[in-house]
Amino acid sequence: LTDYLDARAVALVTNATVALEMAFLESIDDGEVIVPAFSFPATWNLFFENPRFKVVFADIGPDFCLDPDAVEAAITDRTTAIVGVHTYGFLCDHTRLRALCDRHGLRLIYDAAHAFGVRTPGQPCSRLGDLNVYSFHATKVYNTLEGGAITGDASWIDRLKRRRNFGLSREEQFCFGTNGKMDELRAAIGLLNLRGLDAAIAARARVARYYLHVLPRETGLLQVFPDLIFPKVGAHNHAYFPVRVHPDAPVDRDGLLEALRQEGILARRYFYPTPTSSTLYRDHVTDGALPVTRRCSLDTICLPIHHRMSKADCEHVVGSLVRALCS
Ligand SMILES: Cc1ncc(COP(=O)(O)O)c(C=O)c1O
Repeated sequence: LTDYLDARAVALVTNATVALEMAFLESIDDGEVIVPAFSFPATWNLFFENPRFKVVFADIGPDFCLDPDAVEAAITDRTTAIVGVHTYGFLCDHTRLRALCDRHGLRLIYDAAHAFGVRTPGQPCSRLGDLNVYSFHATKVYNTLEGGAITGDASWIDRLKRRRNFGLSREEQFCFGTNGKMDELRAAIGLLNLRGLDAAIAARARVARYYLHVLPRETGLLQVFPDLIFPKVGAHNHAYFPVRVHPDAPVDRDGLLEALRQEGILARRYFYPTPTSSTLYRDHVTDGALPVTRRCSLDTICLPIHHRMSKADCEHVVGSLVRALCS
């Protein structure tokens, strides 16, 4: 795994949620933490539950990832860390986020739950943040059914290995911790799945290519993202195929989701809900703030993508989309 990720060091963990919690507790003492609101609650739950931290949500850009301008505007003298999310496997603007962190002395952590297998020549995804957290959940491109990994410098990873083992190393307790270890059965599944991963990503790329070729021709009512899905530099992992439903479409995103469901197709609202649509966060998201997050949480849908999808499956998805949008 260390080789595959071109990582400095790796710790295997129970899942990405526990990994993020351990990474945050290990590397950030307190203060304001800037996170995108367009993500899964695992990205910020710990910060809300622990009074040492304060969450500051920043908006995303058109690439679904943190907008560096919004991040810069949110930095105060109480900011201690930025948590970026490589949403759908699209990498954050890591050059600008790193520069901001260096300039302001901030910790940079990536929720890379979606980014396993993303290729970035010269600058592996596993080294972009001080710590980088991957999910190996069954829904991910690479999975151990339930699991995850943290990458970073060897000294960080050594400390995280104690933290994931109740704070213990051999018979000495070095710190507080939890039970965040990956078990042997899942590790064995992971070794098996690693063998077929590149072929699975290549098969997913074929599905993505088909969608990108056919959808704009069949309906102009879905926005697709060819430059993110097939970037000029490096390679995407085809974990997700998000599209945005045009405001002029005869059905909105939720109508489209239901129309697909009736044809036996499980597409996904992801991320939904977000803090912009949940009363739980009313003290943290003011009206009119986070406009891009708000829009994306209402108009984005992730189409089915999997290495076992046949040409007929792809045609079925596209046919159903066209019936819902153009009939
Ligand atoms: C962005 C993001 N972060 C974290 C997680 C949590 O991952 P896990 O299920 O491995 O705890 C998810 C789950 O899908 C996610 O989408």
